[in-house]
Amino acid sequence: MIKFVYTNLKLPLDSLDMMAVKYLKDCIEFVKILCDKMHKTSILLPVLILLNNSQRSSILEWVKAISFLLKNYKKRWQNRVGMADILVIIIFIFLVLLILIPTVMFIWLYIVDARQKEHSVLRNYPVVGKVRYLLENIGPELRQYLFANNREGKPFSRHQYINVVKAGKYKSRIHSFGSERDFEQPGFYITNKMFPLLHEELRIDQEPKIDTMLYKIEHEGILQRKEHRHEATVDPFLLADEDAIIIGQDTCKYPFIAKGHVGQSAMSYGSLGKNAITALSRGLAMAGGTWMNTGEGGVSPHHFKGGVDLIMQIGPGLFGVRTKDGQFSEEEFKKKASQEEIKAFEVKLAQGAKTRGGHIEAEKVTEEIAEIRNVEPWTKLDSPNRFKEFNSVEGLMEFVERLRDLGGKPVGVKIVAGSKQEVENFVKTMVEIDKVPDFISIDGAEGGTGATFQELSDAVGLPLFAALPLLDQLLTEYGIRNRTKIIASGKLVTPDMIAYALALGADLVNTARGMMISVGCIMAGVCHNNTCPVGVATTNPDREKALVVEEKMYRVTNYIISLREGLFNVAAAAGVQSPSELSAEHIMYRTPAGNLMTGVEFKESLLKAPTAFLTQETNFTSHETETPREKTLA
Ligand SMILES: Cc1cc2nc3c(=O)[nH]c(=O)nc-3n(C[C@H](O)[C@H](O)[C@H](O)COP(=O)(O)O)c2cc1C
Ligand code: SF4
Repeated sequence: MIKFVYTNLKLPLDSLDMMAVKYLKDCIEFVKILCDKMHKTSILLPVLILLNNSQRSSILEWVKAISFLLKNYKKRWQNRVGMADILVIIIFIFLVLLILIPTVMFIWLYIVDARQKEHSVLRNYPVVGKVRYLLENIGPELRQYLFANNREGKPFSRHQYINVVKAGKYKSRIHSFGSERDFEQPGFYITNKMFPLLHEELRIDQEPKIDTMLYKIEHEGILQRKEHRHEATVDPFLLADEDAIIIGQDTCKYPFIAKGHVGQSAMSYGSLGKNAITALSRGLAMAGGTWMNTGEGGVSPHHFKGGVDLIMQIGPGLFGVRTKDGQFSEEEFKKKASQEEIKAFEVKLAQGAKTRGGHIEAEKVTEEIAEIRNVEPWTKLDSPNRFKEFNSVEGLMEFVERLRDLGGKPVGVKIVAGSKQEVENFVKTMVEIDKVPDFISIDGAEGGTGATFQELSDAVGLPLFAALPLLDQLLTEYGIRNRTKIIASGKLVTPDMIAYALALGADLVNTARGMMISVGCIMAGVCHNNTCPVGVATTNPDREKALVVEEKMYRVTNYIISLREGLFNVAAAAGVQSPSELSAEHIMYRTPAGNLMTGVEFKESLLKAPTAFLTQETNFTSHETETPREKTLA
C-alpha cells in the first residue's frame, strides 16, 4: 500500500526507510516525516499507513498515534481544509468507532457474563461461551437442512413434511428413483395383489368436481424456484354412498355422514389463530366429505366461515357449554346443538400428548377468545385434567347419553389407551350398562399438542399402532364393534400411514399437524408462546398476518384430496374397490427379528401379549432418529 501511495503521490521511494513502517512506533516517526514532505497533498496517507500497521500496535502506541494525528490535522485544518480532508476525517472517525465500539462491547459483555449467576459456562468462559447458545439455537435448522437425512427428524421427518407441503401446493406427491425407507426396520406393508384393480373398477364418487388453485414449477434454480399459481378443476375422490361412514345411524335423529376418511383433528381457536382456523374451515369445506373438530376451546365464528361440517369438542373446561362459574350449561349446549354446521359432539377425556386438560397462556386469551370460552381475558387457562362431572365409565356414558338426548346428534369420546386392562374395562363396562358412544376417537401417544409437559407427551399412553388394534379387537370380542365407529389419530399425515390405520381397525382418521403444515407450519415448535413465525399457532395480529387465508385454504383442499386419492391408490393395489374395505388382511408386519406376520396375526398376538409389542417399534416411522428442538437453557 505504501508503495502504491508513494507512486501516486510521485514521492521518491528511496526517501523512505521501508523497514521503519514495520511497527507503529516506527510508523509514527514515519508519518511525521511524511507529513512534513506532503504539505500540499492529502492527509489521507498517514492515516492509511497507521492502519496498515495497526495489527502490530499496542494500545499505548495507538493512543500516541491518534494524538499525533489529531494535532497534525488541527495544524493542517488551520492552513487549508479541502473535501479530501473532510472525507478523511469521516473515514478516520468511522474506522476508530469500528474498532472502539466492538472493544467496549466485548469488555462490557465479558464483565456481565463473568458476574452473572445463572449460566455456569459463561462464568468460566465469558463471551466465548455464548457460541454454545448460538449453536444450540441454530442446531435444529442445521440438522434439519444439512445433517439429517430425509427420513430423520421428529416429530416429522423431512420426507413426511415435504409430502404434506407438496400435496397442498402442487397436489402431486410423485417422486422418482426409489424409496428411502429402511426396509431392514420393523413396520407394516400393504399386501398387494398380483392383479390390482383398474382405476375404473374402483368405487369412487368423482362428483362434484372441485375448483381449486395449484402451483406449477417453471424453473428450479439453486437460489430460487420460479413457479406460478393457476386455477384447476380436480376430482374429489369421495367415497361412494354405499362406502360412506355413518355415525349415529341407529341412535341419533341427525346422524353424521362422512364421504371421506380424513378430517381435521381437534385444535382450538386459541391454540391456532383466526387466520389458520378460517383457512382450514374454508379449505376443508371446498374439499367436501370431511370435517373439522373444534378442539376443546369451543366454537368460534371463524369455524363457520367455510361452512364445513363441525364436530364440537367438549373438554373438562366445558368451554362453550358452561356457565361463567364453570358448570355444564344445558342451555348453552342446546344452542350449539341447534346449529346446523355442528354435526356431532366429542367428549374429550385425553389426547396423546397430554392426559390432562387444555392449557393456554394468558397472552393468547384475547377478549374474543375469552368471550367464546366464557372466561376472563388475558388470564392463563388451565382446564382440570378430568371432568368434574364424572370419574367412571358409567358416569362418562351417562353424560354421553345426556348430550345425545339433548342434541339429537352423535356423541363420541376421545381417549388415549393406557393398557389393555384399561381399554378392556372400558369396553366391558359399556357392554354391562348397554351404553355405547357413537364414535371413539383414539389418539396415539405420539399425538401433538399446542402446549403440554414433557413427561406427559413422552411417557404417557400407548402409541397408536398398538392402541388402535387393541381397541378394535376388544370391541369386536365383546360384540359391540358394530355399534360405534373408531376415529384414529397420531401422525397419520400420508396415505400409507392412514391405510395402515384403516387396516388396523379405524373407520376414519383425524390429522392435526398435517393440517397445520398445510396452512404453513414450519415445525418451529413454539406454538405455546404465541410467537409462531408463520402465523399459524398465534393470536397476535402482527404474527397472524403472515398467514394469507386466500392462499392457504387451497392447500388444505389439495392436501385432503391428495390423501383420499392416495388411499384409492392403496386400495387398488390391495385389490379392494374402496379404502373402506381395507382390513388386517391387507397388511403385513415385519417384526424386529425380520419375521413376517399377517395383519390378522399381528392383531391377535397384540391382544394376547400387548407388552411384547410395546417394547418393539410398531410404527415404521419410529426408527427415525430424534432431533431435539429445545434449547437446554443450561
Ligand atoms: C396445536 C394443537 C392443538 C391441539 N388441540 C387439541 C384440543 O383442543 N383437543 C384435543 O383433543 N386434541 C388437541 N390436539 C391433539 C390433536 O387433536 C391430535 O389428537 C394429535 O395431535 C394427533 O394428531 P396429529 O399427529 O395428526 O397431530 C391438538 C394438537 C395440536 C398440534
Ligand atoms: S411454525 Fe412452529 S409455532 Fe407455528 S404452528 Fe408450526 S410448530 Fe407451532
